[in-house]
Amino acid sequence: MSHKKILITGASGFLGYHLSRCAAAQGYEVYAQYNSGNIHYDRCTPIQFDLRSYIDMGNMIDDIEPDVVIHAAALADAARCQREPALSYAINVEATQNLAGICSDYQVPFVFTSTDLVFDGVKGNYSEEDAVNPLMVYGEHKVLAEQEVMKVYPESLIARCPLMFGAPEASDKTYFSAFIRSLREDKEVNLFHDEYRSVAGAKSVAEGLLHLAEEAAGIFHVAGGQRVSRYEFGLAAAEAFGLDKSLLKSMSQKDIAAANPRPADVSLSISKARSFGYAPLGYQEELQHIASGKYL
Ligand SMILES: NC(=O)c1ccc[n+]([C@@H]2O[C@H](COP(=O)([O-])OP(=O)(O)OC[C@H]3O[C@@H](n4cnc5c(N)ncnc54)[C@H](OP(=O)(O)O)[C@@H]3O)[C@@H](O)[C@H]2O)c1
Repeated sequence: MSHKKILITGASGFLGYHLSRCAAAQGYEVYAQYNSGNIHYDRCTPIQFDLRSYIDMGNMIDDIEPDVVIHAAALADAARCQREPALSYAINVEATQNLAGICSDYQVPFVFTSTDLVFDGVKGNYSEEDAVNPLMVYGEHKVLAEQEVMKVYPESLIARCPLMFGAPEASDKTYFSAFIRSLREDKEVNLFHDEYRSVAGAKSVAEGLLHLAEEAAGIFHVAGGQRVSRYEFGLAAAEAFGLDKSLLKSMSQKDIAAANPRPADVSLSISKARSFGYAPLGYQEELQHIASGKYL
């Protein structure tokens, strides 16, 4: 059991929820930052502030004196980043750069959560050495943030995360919650058979981040171990939750003229993270854990 202090930004968000719960279960003293949302997690101290305030951020690190910071706050809605690039830049790039700089000043280990959408999806099975080429503002800003973090605090860990699923109570805004809701309401769901991800359960990712935060620096892919299409994943999720699979309709990316660009295959190789002890569950197994209600 760890008795270290951890600050988790974006704790009111989807990944932040899993990080906070997993860190508390591991014995960390958890400081859980939120902004407009709210937090009532057991054994976590909620802290409200807007990451765009440099002064609040500095005061917070000064007051808490954390042993590690995991930065999971972001404007993570890619469509919104496309519509509001200035807001995305302020939150995803500037605030990240500032927080990394403050952590560097205080020599606090810093983990930045990035995304598989730094890639264009042409090649798939990307390693950490592959060239980035984002197709949308969200990915562009994550790339800029990665570069700034490496400049101001090269000892940081940059964790590129995949499309995640997790505890339904973490957020009702995720694609996963919407998907389960639709099937429960007997509504059809269209899913791409030609869009691939290394989808992962958020608990596996959260535990991986907590582990790697102590072990590693540089860029790491912290994703699932299987390349799976959205349609295949939907079938597995419906199966795990005992929902009607015939409501799932397979479609191609080519069938729609998307307002926002969608990379075809941003699956990630996780060999590097595995060599540092990262061991995610298979997605089918993690789906079973969630459906059983004994997840976190
Ligand atoms: N979810 C995925 O499948 C996925 C995939 C790849 C990468 N990621 C990355 O993982 C991280 C977490 O994503 P998520 O899906 O958990 O995001 P999320 O559910 O949208 O949560 C975003 C969090 O950021 C906080 N936040 C936003 N603007 C803020 C501001 N100005 N000041 C302070 N806090 C602010 C929000 O706080 P309030 O709600 O309290 O305002 C919330 O806690 C992000 O870095 C994202 O890019 C996620």
